[in-house]
Amino acid sequence: MKRTIAVPSPLPPPTQCNGIHVGIIMDGNGRWANARGMIRTAGHRAGVRTARAIVESATRAGVGTMTLYAFSADNWSRPTPEVGALMRLLRRSLLIESKRCIENGVRLTIVGRRDRLPSSLVSAIQEAEAATAHGRNLHLRVAIDYSARESIMRAAALAGPEPLDREAFARLLAQVNHDPFPIRDVDLLIRSGGEQRLSDFLLWECAYAELHFTRCMWPEFTEKEFLAALSEFEVRERRFGGVPAQAAS
Ligand code: IPE
Ligand code: IPE
Ligand code: MG
Repeated sequence: MKRTIAVPSPLPPPTQCNGIHVGIIMDGNGRWANARGMIRTAGHRAGVRTARAIVESATRAGVGTMTLYAFSADNWSRPTPEVGALMRLLRRSLLIESKRCIENGVRLTIVGRRDRLPSSLVSAIQEAEAATAHGRNLHLRVAIDYSARESIMRAAALAGPEPLDREAFARLLAQVNHDPFPIRDVDLLIRSGGEQRLSDFLLWECAYAELHFTRCMWPEFTEKEFLAALSEFEVRERRFGGVPAQAAS
């Protein structure tokens, strides 16, 4: 009897994620590598591959903005060899991935301080931002040497003594974050690696974010799990301090 081979059916794309902002704390690279007898840097390399797959999936799903936490301002406290390896990996990934971004209509910008980064990484950032500036499908923001509290403090310093509304403050935040325009608040925040904390990521922008924590280490986070998180997001009722839709009618 002829046997048929089961072809995996394509993953159903979530339907209501058009234009949303997804933030991701890509945590767990080091533990993933150590559990396999590898050095932490091998985990960071594997993490880049996951990031590539998830960005492509987000573009297909119609996500409007995605912010990936790649290196926090507090990560400078790590051992010098790990920091050096991360800086080199970030530079190489930006150069390689910006070509893929151009093909997929992804605009890439980098959030965070630049004055402490190696000059070769700053050049790669400038090249990647210029090369992808015409992308309209997805705005991909990568947070490097980023601290949400520092961004907020710098925006507040720009504001001066004048009273501000939220929109005006968001414009100042965009300025300090090197954003081409004010970005929308985070709709869905995903953190891999099992921890349930924000670690100084997008504190202003996450005011009403839906939170999704997973025990999965970032290198093994899959498109399937990402789409499941989007689908779960779609059925959550966001009230923004109001009452359930049913009660309001
Ligand atoms: C996240 O993974 C990547 C960076 C912070 C650069 P970690 O390196 O924090 O991995 P764990 O949390 O130690 O496993
Ligand atoms: C947050 O992860 C930073 C990034 C993912 C880049 P950390 O591993 O640095 O966070 P903590 O130390 O567990 O809070
Ligand atoms: Mg970590």
